[in-house]
Order: sequence, then structure tokens, then C-alpha cells
Amino acid sequence: MSNRVIIGGQWGDEGKGKIVDAVGEGVDWVIRYQGGANAGHTIQAGGREHVLHLLPSGVFHEKARCFLGNGMVIDPWQLRDEIVALEEQDVRVRGRLFVAASAHLILPYHRRLDELREAKLRRRNIGTTGRGIGPAYVDKAWRHGMRMGDLLLPKENLERKVIEKVLDANEALSELYKSDPLPAEVIAEELVVLAKSLGPMIVNPYEALAGVREGRESALFEGAQGTLLDFDHGTYPFVTSSNCSVGGAVTGTGLPPRCLGEVLGVFKAYCTRVGNGPFPTELLADEAECLRQLGGEYGATTGRPRRCGWFDLLAGRYAVDLNGMTGLYITKLDVLDSQAALQVAIAYELDGQRLESFPVRAELLTRCRPVYREFPGWGSATTACRRLAELPGPARRYLEFIETSLGAPIRGISVGRGRDETIWTPNGVNAA
Ligand code: IMP
Repeated sequence: MSNRVIIGGQWGDEGKGKIVDAVGEGVDWVIRYQGGANAGHTIQAGGREHVLHLLPSGVFHEKARCFLGNGMVIDPWQLRDEIVALEEQDVRVRGRLFVAASAHLILPYHRRLDELREAKLRRRNIGTTGRGIGPAYVDKAWRHGMRMGDLLLPKENLERKVIEKVLDANEALSELYKSDPLPAEVIAEELVVLAKSLGPMIVNPYEALAGVREGRESALFEGAQGTLLDFDHGTYPFVTSSNCSVGGAVTGTGLPPRCLGEVLGVFKAYCTRVGNGPFPTELLADEAECLRQLGGEYGATTGRPRRCGWFDLLAGRYAVDLNGMTGLYITKLDVLDSQAALQVAIAYELDGQRLESFPVRAELLTRCRPVYREFPGWGSATTACRRLAELPGPARRYLEFIETSLGAPIRGISVGRGRDETIWTPNGVNAA
């Protein structure tokens, strides 16, 4: 089986979890390589709905081993809770989950700093998930962080290290934010307990992933968030703090680029964004509310209403090119079933000029006005369709246009939440 990387082509929440779950059958490893519990993947499996934040969506494939790579920032309390919740539902996790010793830890002060900084920025805030992601990556870059491997230290050394870090963070909390200190000893004691239960999963990534490196084992790399939230290539500063685009799969695992295999992009049939920052095709008021209700567009991590808008070809092409996507999946097509007409942004207007390439810089994007091409709606339900030929003509033409414009074949179209509610189009929608 060849390796694959699944990447979000927009601002996250594209439905990557469902695609990973659908294509993960038979794979040896499902690997997460960036981000942390800011992600929220909703999956239907075993007749239940599960929301995962840290564990890869591939955890529902019993034979697959799961890996949390060095590029991640991991809240050990959250990790323990997620494992316990799945095991209570008879999904075996222990023995199949491995965590890179070099992945960084999110500690309670990271969350606190995230919240306080956001509050201080007021209306200029990023709109983070409040999971401590930014501050944890700051500590990593500052060479001041704690890593999963620290949980393997002798008890006294671990306690000493945690207390030192918390006391240090307490100074920042009180001096910068006039906030109460966190209880260093309590946090250290809790981490010692967590270290016992998580310790057996912590491994050297170079050794654990040797089979993938040597081509003996297959891997599915599961991206979190989306290309436009990438902290180098996204709409900075309104981004997350990791590389959600394809490069993250290399730096976040220590595997060489030749191990990545195919790069597959997941796009919603429209666009959403949660948090602040430019969104040229955003709909306002009733139109946005209509898509939000139909699509259940509320954050899986924070419950925040997502901002909704039309499909944006400039942003899409940027994501395809940046990642070298060789195949695409379109999700939530059924959400558009009742739209009388659909718009797709084919260009932007900026200061009287027509742009056909995504300008990326937030300050430019904020001023861009989309130029739309209108498509007729199809006015009938698509959820029961399983073959391309069963889709209404206008829906097929909408997809054909997206495929042609993005320049990569659409391999699958999701028309509902269930695992089987997908139309597989291995050769693309134009070739059919
Ligand atoms: P952070 O990752 O919590 O620091 O949040 C930074 C930005 O990324 C905010 O706009 C968040 O709403 C957004 N974000 C983070 N994770 C996700 C996700 O999984 N889906 C969608 N947006 C996300």
C-alpha cells in the first residue's frame, strides 16, 4: 500500500477525519505530525459519533498503529482522557499508540497564557482555541519547553523540572498579566501520575518509524487544521503555530520526504473559518446562518459558530500548489443541496486591479473583493447518491469546474456524515 498525506486545503474543519477514516483501512501507521488538541475530528464509527482532538482518526482501524509525532504539542491530561474515553467504548488504544519522546508538552500555564494573551489583545485577538498551542510552541522555539520524553525521568527529576517550569511561568503570569500563580507542586504530582500511565507509549521516533522509513510499513499522515492556517504559509498572524501544510509531515515526524507518497487535499464544497482573520468569500447575516445550520458549522473543539462563505478558487489553487496535491476530496456537498444558486470566487479585485493569484498577506486579503462566477443550484438531495452519475447535473458541473480549476483530480465526494456516504471517483469527475 502506498503512503499518503491528508491535508486540509482551507482553514481547517474540511472533514479530514472522515476521509482518513475512509481511506485508512489496511494501513500500518496513522501519524499525526503537528498541532495538538486544537484539532477536533468528528467521526462516525461503530454506530457512534466520536470527537478526537489528539488521537488520529485512524484509531478506529483496529490493526493500524497510531503515532503522535515530534511536531505535536501534547496536553497529557487531554491525552489520558481521550484514551480512557475510547477504551470505555471498547476501542483498544494502549499497545497501538506510540508518542514521540521529542513531542512537546502542553502544561496548564500554556493554556492560561493563551487565554490571558487573547483577552489582552481584545478585538485584535486571533480567536485561538484556548488550548495553549501558541505558548507551547513559543517555549519549544525558545528551547524552554518540556517534552514527552521528560515523563520518563526518575520521579524526583521530573518533579523538580516541572516545579521549576511552573515557577518560571508564574513570574510571567503575575508580571505580564497580574494573574494568580499556578500550584507548582500539585501540577508536578499530577504529572508524575500521568507519567506512569503514558510512559509505556513514549518512544524514539527514529526507531519506532523505521519500518516506514525502510518501506516495509505503510503510513497515512493525518494533517490537522488547514493550509491557510499554516504559520509560515497561511494568513499570518491569523494562523495556528505549526506547519499544517505538507512540510510539517517531514519535520514533524523525522521521516524523509520520499516516505510521504501521495499528497491528498480535503476541501469543503464551500468555505468556513473559525477564529479571526481575512476571509474574502465570507457570507454575512442570514446567508451565513443558513449554511451554518445546514452544515452544523460549529467548532468541534470550542463549539464556536464557524464563519461560512463560498468556495474560493484562488485560495484552493494556492493550497494545491503549495502542497503539491495530487488528488482531492470534496466534503459536505449535500449541505449545498437546497441552495438556489452557488457562487465560486474566480478572482479578486484589489484597488481596482484584478488578481488571479492568492495574495496570502492578511493586510491585502482583508481588502480583496471576490469576483464570482455563479452556478445554478440542483435543488434535490444528494445524500443517497453513491455514483457520480446519480448526482444531479448542476452538482456534477459544479464539481467539474472545481476540479478543472484546481488542476488535480477529485477522488471522492462526501455527501453525508456516515462512512459509506461517499462517492468514490478514482479517476476524477471530468474523466468519468
Ligand atoms: P490555536 O491553534 O488554538 O492557536 O488557534 C489559532 C487559529 O487557528 C484560530 O483561528 C483557531 O480558530 C484556528 N484553529 C486551530 N485549530 C483549528 C482546527 O482544528 N480547525 C479550525 N480552526 C482551527
